[in-house]
Amino acid sequence: MNDALIASLLRAVQAAPEDHALRLHLAEQMNAAGRSAEALAHVSAVLQQDPGNAAALAMLGTISASITGTTVEIQGAEPAADAAPDEPQHGTPSGYDWEAGAKEFGSSLPAPFVEERIPVQADAGSEVPGIPIENPAGPGITLDDVGGLQAVKNRLNESFLAPMRNAAIAKAFGKSLRGGLLLYGPPGCGKTFLARAVAGELKANFMSVTITDVVDSYIGETEKRLKAIFDQARKNAPTVLFIDEIDAIGIRRGSLNGSGAWMRQMVNQLLIEMDSLAGNNDGLYVLGATNHPWDLDEALLRPGRLDRTLLVTPPDAPARESILRYHLKNRPIAGIDLNWIAAQTDGFSGADLEHVCTTAAEKAMMQSIERNEVLPLGMEHIRKALAEIKASTVPWLESARNVVRFSNQHGRYDDLAEYLVSRNML
Ligand SMILES: Nc1ncnc2c1ncn2[C@@H]1O[C@H](COP(=O)(O)OP(=O)(O)OP(=O)(O)O)[C@@H](O)[C@H]1O
Ligand SMILES: [Mg+2]
Repeated sequence: MNDALIASLLRAVQAAPEDHALRLHLAEQMNAAGRSAEALAHVSAVLQQDPGNAAALAMLGTISASITGTTVEIQGAEPAADAAPDEPQHGTPSGYDWEAGAKEFGSSLPAPFVEERIPVQADAGSEVPGIPIENPAGPGITLDDVGGLQAVKNRLNESFLAPMRNAAIAKAFGKSLRGGLLLYGPPGCGKTFLARAVAGELKANFMSVTITDVVDSYIGETEKRLKAIFDQARKNAPTVLFIDEIDAIGIRRGSLNGSGAWMRQMVNQLLIEMDSLAGNNDGLYVLGATNHPWDLDEALLRPGRLDRTLLVTPPDAPARESILRYHLKNRPIAGIDLNWIAAQTDGFSGADLEHVCTTAAEKAMMQSIERNEVLPLGMEHIRKALAEIKASTVPWLESARNVVRFSNQHGRYDDLAEYLVSRNML
């Protein structure tokens, strides 16, 4: 009987997603009508935007009664045989069509912190199946989406973006436009993310390949595939061709034994393709990423090939804040102090921070189940998660220290040396 009222409230909330009182009124009506799951989603949306909202917190308690039924239902899996067939199914997941719900009001729940921009997939062309091309006309990410890391961004701009954007001036100053850029650094710290941002900055298409896209079990096919990938990238220029884990494709040929003949061929083909990069006129930018630049074939790093290297450092405090914000934005949270967490997580990678958020969410969920009420994820859950998770970039930095000490004659790892010094690790 409340359906018409709920539908009109829903429209009103869609028109004014920031109006918390209105959204809570809608949640109240939904809960009264037995639509507790939807009601909870709206209360969560309010709490994400305004974690201390007293009315929303109070309503969580009211809704939790119906949600408690949900837990029992899930554990039982099979409906109880003696349950009355016409028993009302208020608020149970089986009674709610999630798919229809998502269609109905999914877009009315805005992200509480940041606007997520999802790259649009364009027509992939026909030569290399399975490698999608992300379209620059769509809302791609740019350097503004990369939180913190100002020093990394500045170096990226100086060594790569500015010359590519101002070809004539760069040439006048004798700056070569040939060659690509190698991003290196500890795992999970944003190399892939930064490569996407470079494509966004250059308004170029984005193609990402790994060794599994290249290797074929037939002799000769691997080189053909590699060539086809470069051709496809050229055809769709301007394109950023991103070779992830490039150490797997461009492995040091000296380290390969007899059975590595085909891999040697693959490296050779990669060198041929790299040599075909003739400035920015053809609009093909090659970016590689690796956690182990020292395993790459030297020839790949010669002038005109991947001759610029850029260390993607572990996220600094602003970057950590932006990563945490991203991973918490779709969870019911209350009283989260991002600044404090960022200060406690020096040395954590993006992936570590994601792990902290999922672990804290599990803890909040388990506590909710124990207490039979829905508790939002709070600082005590974060603190417990932090006690269990260690910073993963430290071992990488420690092993990288030897490379800087003993094999940095060419100055290729100067930014790594500088970073280690700044952390008193060298
Ligand atoms: N500075 C940053 N600002 C915002 N998000 C970031 C930042 N750095 C990393 N992230 C996020 O952290 C996650 C891990 O980043 P990414 O996958 O780019 O790391 P990677 O260096 O390519 O890791 P791997 O070595 O494992 O391939 C991503 O979800 C990314 O969105
Ligand atoms: Mg990556």
